[in-house]
Amino acid sequence: MYSNDEKIRKTEERLKETEKVFGYVFDKFTLLNIYKMFSGKYIERFEFPISSGKESIVFAASGEGKFYAVKIYKTVASTFKNIERYAGDRWGIENSSNKRKFVVQWAYREFRNLGIANQAGVFAPKPIKVIGNVLLMQYLGTRRRPAPQIKDIEIDDSLMKQIFGDIRNLYLKGKLVHGDLSEYNFLLHRKKAYMIDIAQALDIKDPASMILLKRDVNNMVKFFNKFGFDIDENKILRYTVGEINDFY
Ligand SMILES: Nc1ncnc2c1ncn2[C@@H]1O[C@H](COP(=O)(O)OP(=O)(O)O)[C@@H](O)[C@H]1O
Ligand SMILES: [Mg+2]
Repeated sequence: MYSNDEKIRKTEERLKETEKVFGYVFDKFTLLNIYKMFSGKYIERFEFPISSGKESIVFAASGEGKFYAVKIYKTVASTFKNIERYAGDRWGIENSSNKRKFVVQWAYREFRNLGIANQAGVFAPKPIKVIGNVLLMQYLGTRRRPAPQIKDIEIDDSLMKQIFGDIRNLYLKGKLVHGDLSEYNFLLHRKKAYMIDIAQALDIKDPASMILLKRDVNNMVKFFNKFGFDIDENKILRYTVGEINDFY
């Protein structure tokens, strides 16, 4: 059995290249969770970094020749990241442990919501495992290149219909509203648009869900209409909630 310090050192070794790319330093809590992904044989190595945002970092990883996406929710305000990693247990623990609880819940919600979306027949990455603030899911893309966001591709009729069909399925079958939809949160993989970034999704019973649904639909309609579609936003809303079965 390795000590925590050894586990952290081993994980740091594996993350070295990635840290150079992102300039982000992980705290001990995160390093130990990543370690568990390795020791539990979920993954064998990191392949390449994909994205670094305000709240999370995403990598491609692999195990037994298969690719996976690993999303790590940041636990530490970037200003304090260095201090947190090396002295966090002595210093500022109050704050960081609260933030920690919060991001762990966020990771679990994303894991759960990805499962619900898949159950509802929505194209979304399949959730595989969550350990603390580290989420393992289906990787979208090829071995050379992660799937592009739909903001960077040519949109056609079938993709547009698939996306609104999925928003509807998420609502009617999954009973969820995504709440942060835009051309950034769909990835094109094998000719389908995959819905991602779904931690914040709300239950349709939640009073705020209708406001979010309207915003989601508005974002997507605006995006598609830039390509020359002439989509009626109100029709899409009625289609999503099941009042009509077609919008074209
Ligand atoms: N399963 C996945 N496969 C491939 N790339 C992914 C996957 N999930 C996320 N990404 C990439 O990482 C980026 C950030 O992920 P996202 O879940 O949107 O987090 P956030 O926007 O909160 O940083 C995405 O825009 C996408 O480029
Ligand atoms: Mg996103």
